[in-house]
Amino acid sequence: MSHQEESSYERISTRIVNSSAEGCRLVANEIAELVTKKRDEGQKTVLGLATGSTPTGVYRELIKLHREGFSFASLITFNLDEYYPISSTHPESYYYFMREQLFDHLDVPDENIHIPDGSVDRADVYSNCQAYEDKINKVGGLDFQLLGIGRTGHIGFNEPGSGRDSRTRLVHLDSLTRKDAARDFLGVENVPRYALTMGVGTIWDARRIVLLAWGEAKAAVLAQAVQGEPIETLPASLLQGHPNLEVIADEAAACELTRMKRPWLVGKVPWKPRMIRSAVSWLSNEADKPILKLLDEDYSERGLADLLTEHGPAYDLNIRVFNEVQHTLTGWPGGKPRASDEHRPERAEPHPKRSLILAPEPLNDIIGMGGTLHRLIDQGHEVTVACLTSGNLAVPDADASKAAELVMDLAELSKGDETAEALFAKRALEELHEKNDFAGDSESIRCLKGLIRRGEAKMACEVCGLPTAKVRFLDLPFYEKGKYRQFRLEDEDVQKVRGLLEELKPHQLYCTGAQAEPSTVQAVCFEALRRAWEALGNADWINECYVWLYRGVSQEWDASEIDMAVPLSPAELANKIQGIYQHQTQRSQTPTSNRTLRDIWRQAEDCDQRVAESYDRLGLAEYEAIEGFRRWNGVGTAPTE
Ligand code: GLP
Repeated sequence: MSHQEESSYERISTRIVNSSAEGCRLVANEIAELVTKKRDEGQKTVLGLATGSTPTGVYRELIKLHREGFSFASLITFNLDEYYPISSTHPESYYYFMREQLFDHLDVPDENIHIPDGSVDRADVYSNCQAYEDKINKVGGLDFQLLGIGRTGHIGFNEPGSGRDSRTRLVHLDSLTRKDAARDFLGVENVPRYALTMGVGTIWDARRIVLLAWGEAKAAVLAQAVQGEPIETLPASLLQGHPNLEVIADEAAACELTRMKRPWLVGKVPWKPRMIRSAVSWLSNEADKPILKLLDEDYSERGLADLLTEHGPAYDLNIRVFNEVQHTLTGWPGGKPRASDEHRPERAEPHPKRSLILAPEPLNDIIGMGGTLHRLIDQGHEVTVACLTSGNLAVPDADASKAAELVMDLAELSKGDETAEALFAKRALEELHEKNDFAGDSESIRCLKGLIRRGEAKMACEVCGLPTAKVRFLDLPFYEKGKYRQFRLEDEDVQKVRGLLEELKPHQLYCTGAQAEPSTVQAVCFEALRRAWEALGNADWINECYVWLYRGVSQEWDASEIDMAVPLSPAELANKIQGIYQHQTQRSQTPTSNRTLRDIWRQAEDCDQRVAESYDRLGLAEYEAIEGFRRWNGVGTAPTE
């Protein structure tokens, strides 16, 4: 496929890398080369830096280079943005983040580091912003600007509506951006309402710009930024036309680009079965006709003439794809015993199966496959749900206090206030009272919060029919030791997952996170599984085990991507929502609303209903909702071809 053809859709030069790790290495090496070149010319390098999860891999690579002897003493850095108001000692300030993630580990002189000051008086904000711009100009402008992209399409904190010529200034944060930051700030009400940010114009003036995007959550916004019209409602798109701009994305983030999603529109493609299914499903949507009504003309008029030549006529193609899609549908996710399984996603035998469901965080399982879980149990399979992490980071302090009080009251009732449990609860309560809002939790608080989530996970599984004894908790150490955005997978995590697999030797395994952004809990857990799987090699049971990927929190898959579609009746969907509701601590922390939990179940319901609608539109039966699964072949992160 020529570059020309690709770029007929892409308005920004885009490099798709195999993994974010590869992308981060590329960028770090480019920065190091730039530093070396300028240093050889006797000059300093002026680098624009970003925060968020996206660039942290690049920072790790830079630190590695420094440990190997590379000096960054000739760097001058300018960070894109900072919350306002915020003090530099606040653990969620970008100042703190940059220290922790980068500057504490490099030899960049302090006086060369610039981050907008979130603690200045409101009256001084304007002049401070001007001064920031002046400083950038004084050192000759930015040589290289690193960028991530927010889910609103923002760059830095240039929210929708930011003009192409905007400069460093104070901005009001979008509610989606604040929601995205709510987890870090332990509640949306703690997220500052404002921020200081370089403008789109400031960024544009950089001599080179590299925008990074990892994981499926960025796919939609990235495609709009790269392929859509440049518009102020999507600030990243305003960078189109910059003379030296490159997007670097992993396959998950790039998957909505036309060359990935509809490659036949971009150039010649090999017509493999999945590609054919994808093209015919797309055509059915485009032509607004069910698959079986597509005509030869529909194919040829919409650029699928060569598919028609190779595999046509339309009648044959239609039936072939219709049957394929039909065969993904099953009410028997564990296989239908004593029935032919020639055209079913799962094998009939053995029955019952040992089904292992991995939930990276409690609740992921119910959102992705609460209905299927219910069916598996109803159909007599030996189901185990394993929550890989405790999820304790996402429990509000108030819930922990409530639980501790309860234990103490109970102890008092039974005159057992000196029992180990009562003393534990008392200590946790004291620590909770003493704790300042953003300090990390002590071991006992984390333990208590983990237990609360255990209770919720058990109740949710019980709603789906699973006895609570069948819910396992691995409490993977990477999570217990870490915090969001900074998890590091270690061998002990992989060993724990491996141990579980070896113990249960499942016939089918359900998991998620293959396409998640690499710093997320889901992605780290998937990596643990991948490594455990690899380490188990060719054990007999592994060759017989089907691995099914369920979807993440907000992404559903196209009907053409699904290998197993489990329809849910209205009652089953309602039951799943009931399961979600057991996760009470996942509600919003504002005293007056239960919004977050409602948001979660609405989103889950919408996703499952959208999948059902897409099957319906293709001309298949009309179901209330569908949970979709893709089969994984145990290698890499991509589902089976
Ligand atoms: C924040 C930052 C942006 C960043 C965005 C995405 O809003 N101000 O600069 O690009 O978050 O963050 P992440 O990389 O964690 O997805």
